[in-house]
Amino acid sequence: MKERTEAAEDQENPQGDCFPYPSRMLPWFYANRRDLPWRGATDPYAVWVSEIMLQQTRVETVRDRYVFFMRELPTVQDLACCDDERLMKLWEGLGYYSRARNMKRCAQTVVAEYGGIFPAEKELLRKLPGIGEYTAGAISSIAYGEKNPAIDGNVLRVCARCEGDFTPVDDAGRKRRLYRRLESVYPEEAGDYTQSLMELGALVCLPDVPRCMSCPLQGHCMAEREGWQRDLPVKPRKAEKRTERLNVFILCTPGGILLCKRAEKTVLAGMWQFPNVLREACGGDVAAQLAALGVHEFSVFARAEHTHVFTHLIWAMTAYVVATEDSPRDLLPFAVEDAARDLSLPSAFRWGLALARQYYACQGKGAAADAEKGG
Ligand code: ADE
Repeated sequence: MKERTEAAEDQENPQGDCFPYPSRMLPWFYANRRDLPWRGATDPYAVWVSEIMLQQTRVETVRDRYVFFMRELPTVQDLACCDDERLMKLWEGLGYYSRARNMKRCAQTVVAEYGGIFPAEKELLRKLPGIGEYTAGAISSIAYGEKNPAIDGNVLRVCARCEGDFTPVDDAGRKRRLYRRLESVYPEEAGDYTQSLMELGALVCLPDVPRCMSCPLQGHCMAEREGWQRDLPVKPRKAEKRTERLNVFILCTPGGILLCKRAEKTVLAGMWQFPNVLREACGGDVAAQLAALGVHEFSVFARAEHTHVFTHLIWAMTAYVVATEDSPRDLLPFAVEDAARDLSLPSAFRWGLALARQYYACQGKGAAADAEKGG
């Protein structure tokens, strides 16, 4: 490795030394990096899978899911021909399911157009389904050692604080400038540098309470010098989340719970769900809502509330656990444990399984008591 010194880097950049130079970041990274299952991977498929999973999902959630996914689908060819239902099941709990659908399309393109090998060039990677500027930078630097920055939220925070930059993080010019500056200092250890910036953001340069005492940039960070840590980065105002109020029907029949698939072009498109309607449907009359689903004879066993928060949307749900022997046309029956094991029932609805289990457990006890009385 060519030895890079801070002095040399500062000379390269006479504007000042408040920048996360490789000479500061790499030694810290080698001493402090977490032992993550994708660390050390240079197979572009493995890097790509981990990066897509890590978008919008916490490292702790991804860890085991990544290992399981890679065991089930170890190559891009395996993913390209994976059955959709199985893929959704493998993605369960990670959320943002369109990522998984895009991954399959991307895998198919890599197999068809690149003989199953991801291209190394960032511009070619960018053209693949679901791969944006950040992911292209991450794959090309981590898997291929190309000197391409990958700027995610962590990296933006580290750099905004270090440079003392008050430009809002959603400013396109800011990102372009930062990209060029990072690119100009990229070392031979490109993948390690990319990950060191992410890792510093995840372990030290935390959003609310940064651990400046443990930071390799201490003394070279403008925010730390000036006490601006809480003011940076400057974030855009968040759009208000919309709330939808839903009635969710946990329909319990002798043949199992009744489920259907979500329509295309809706949130969680194509996933399984408990049938549900907007609370104000049919004038808010629950019996009329059930009749519209094809359930006419029923008794309500229990009612419960549940809230699920998406990025831009909140579902405030009232669940009705309903016993019925009707079999509506558009709903399919499943044994509770079969649904839990085999179907892609997203976490927005999964909580309903516990209510169904309670219902069937009570039925079981009732039947046992009846049998005892009868006997
Ligand atoms: N976040 C996104 N990619 C990451 C990586 N490779 N390591 C740690 N955190 C990450």
